[in-house]
Amino acid sequence: MTQSNLQTMGQQFGRRSWAEPWKIKMVEPLRLISREEREKALIEAGYNTFLLKSEDVYIDLLTDSGTGAMSDRQWAGMMLGDEAYAGSRNFYNFEAAVQTYYGYKYILPTHQGRGAEHLISLAAIKRGQYVPGNMYFTTTRLHQELAGGIFVDMIIDEAHDPQRPYPFKGNIDLDKLETLIKREGAENIAYVSLAGTVNMAGGQPVSMANVKALRELSDRYGIKVFLDATRMVENAFFIQEREDGYAGKSIAEILKEFCSYTDGAWMSAKKDNLVNIGGWLAVNDWTLFEELRNLVVVFEGLHTYGGLAGRDMEAMAIGIAESVQDDHVRARVGQVRYLGELLTVWGSPIVQPVGGHAVFLDARRFYPQLRQDQFPAQTLAAEMYLDSGIRSMERGIASAGRDPKTGDHYYPRLELTRLTIPRRVYTQAHMDVVAESVRAVYDAREQTRGLKMVYEPKYLRFFQARFERL
Ligand SMILES: Cc1ncc(COP(=O)(O)O)c(C=O)c1O
Repeated sequence: MTQSNLQTMGQQFGRRSWAEPWKIKMVEPLRLISREEREKALIEAGYNTFLLKSEDVYIDLLTDSGTGAMSDRQWAGMMLGDEAYAGSRNFYNFEAAVQTYYGYKYILPTHQGRGAEHLISLAAIKRGQYVPGNMYFTTTRLHQELAGGIFVDMIIDEAHDPQRPYPFKGNIDLDKLETLIKREGAENIAYVSLAGTVNMAGGQPVSMANVKALRELSDRYGIKVFLDATRMVENAFFIQEREDGYAGKSIAEILKEFCSYTDGAWMSAKKDNLVNIGGWLAVNDWTLFEELRNLVVVFEGLHTYGGLAGRDMEAMAIGIAESVQDDHVRARVGQVRYLGELLTVWGSPIVQPVGGHAVFLDARRFYPQLRQDQFPAQTLAAEMYLDSGIRSMERGIASAGRDPKTGDHYYPRLELTRLTIPRRVYTQAHMDVVAESVRAVYDAREQTRGLKMVYEPKYLRFFQARFERL
């Protein structure tokens, strides 16, 4: 390539390039340790990227949860923390932000998403009831099961095929849902557990048409719909981009309309809401709220702090308002897409279309020589770390856990390694380094051996399990 035909990424795709709608005010140095040191660190961590020390990691794509950069306004808000035990002014700012942007009536703070999942599961599930959802999420399903619920996957079949470029792979299959309701009876359905976007499917969105139709179906049978709103802002972006009639609407308008078709939501504010810690639970029904407000004091803290400091609630209130700005969401999803486009062009196997928060590598196609119980996605995460010090996360058989009835592994069709992009943290140059590492690991795929699990915790085993090389 000569200098004159050197092209920016935008030019290569025939469009004008975009840039992040912020500039950097403070930096945190990164450290890249040597290959020998990485080998040692990985063995000490039992080949589990969750068990690595963060200082041994170069670019950290383990998760987008609590890893984002707060804005100068959020940091200024932290200084206005009202650390009263009860009735903190920051609680009222936070409550108003959720009401304004998500539209729900009654709001509770929780220490993070799973605190909210715990409470809604206790309050809304009776033992033996079914909880249909659009693919499972690890902590969500576990809380539903611990409360006595039986999770049933109702996502459309397209979601299980990583190569199928369907625009709304997070949609609920309404025929499957109605069949379940008719077979088991509406009284045996606790509620529909709807997530937007669907993390385990690759960050895939739900369409507005689907949630509207879900509302109609649920109303016919008197069933409630609760939303996992963790990445609902990113979901709104995909609706704006892909669904007829929404191109002219703002992210904030789309978010509020979507939520209006649901009866309540739980939230890990560590994602969309741009804070390092926090969560919330919101419902429209007063009786249910009373039960939740009572439960929150048992497990989280008083209903005006829910396990958070006043300053955390202030940062969350400001983060919520920032999170729905169109230019922010466009840059956020745009960065993820940039990495996805590079890998697509190079022929690296990834989930298509690229989702909102992460690029998911299709480990089955990296390592066809490995059986699923040889942990291909865990292996791929380990290989990425060895190659470049980049930390990713397994989202396959280890994350899926075991069937509580049979004790056997769940064997999910998707065996993925997630490169999760924190919000407002890394630059395009970091994405280039990541893409080159994926390519190097893919080129070495034939020599790669799998793993065996040598230590398995009972709950959410992927966090603390240990592995050895086969
Ligand atoms: C879709 C989804 N729901 C719920 C949670 C749980 O939230 P937290 O980690 O804040 O407990 C997460 C976190 O990763 C998530 O991705």
